[in-house]
Formats: sequence, structure tokens, C-alpha cells
Amino acid sequence: MALYSDKVMDHFQNPRNVGKIDDADGIGEVGNAKCGDIMRMYIKVKDGIITDCKFNTFGCGSAIATSSMATELIKGKSVEDALKLSNQAVVEALDGLPAHKIHCSVLAEEAVRAAVKDYYDKNGIAYNAEEFQIHDCEHCSE
Ligand code: FES
Repeated sequence: MALYSDKVMDHFQNPRNVGKIDDADGIGEVGNAKCGDIMRMYIKVKDGIITDCKFNTFGCGSAIATSSMATELIKGKSVEDALKLSNQAVVEALDGLPAHKIHCSVLAEEAVRAAVKDYYDKNGIAYNAEEFQIHDCEHCSE
């Protein structure tokens, strides 16, 4: 079996929603200190719905593929639903990732959450800070 699924290769080679939103309502930037990869996610929100979403990722192919898929999964969704996006859901939507690349999908989940948090902060929307704590990923020590 190929190391990467066709979907991963497709989203790596033709990433969706690449770029920047100049008047974004929320911007999230996260990085993985171990590999040095950085992901920036922009969201545009209207009436609680994410109407547009773009990303810039300076990182590995899996980080690019997972951020691309994450934008596809949250576009058109409510910010609350975007917050529920798990890295596992991104991995499943990509038909899997090798175990040593799962940490790249964690970056995508965190970038979405950071963008939503920024949106909440900018709009004075109250939230439970615990929801935004970065969780430990068992794969990140690899
Ligand atoms: Fe750093 Fe993939 S190796 S995010």
C-alpha cells in the first residue's frame, strides 16, 4: 500500500483555499517546535458561520494536506462546529496518514481553534479558556 492516500497527495499537490484573507475576522497561527513547521489560518465569519477560510502553511506535505482539508471541512460551518473539528476527523477525511505524520494533523486542528479563539477575542465573545488549551499529542515526541 502507498504510504500516502490519493486524497493526501491530491490535497498536497492541489491545496484548496491557499492564501490570506486581508480582512479576516480571526487569524490563528500555530507551530510545531520540533519540526519547525508553521501554519496560519484565516477565517471570515458572518452570523456565526464561517463564510471563507484560507491558510498558509510553511511545512511538510502532510501539514499542507491537513490544513487544506481542514479549510474544506469548516467552510460553511458554524464557529462552534469548527471548534469540534478534531485532527482525527481531518485524518479520516484524507483516508488516513502514516502514524509518524499524525502530529501534522494536530497542527491543523490547533490552527482552526486558534483562529476561532482570535475571532472570539476580537468580538468580545466569552468562552471557556480550558477549551483552548493545547493538548499533548502522543506522536509529537517522535
Ligand atoms: Fe512538521 Fe508535518 S513534519 S507538521
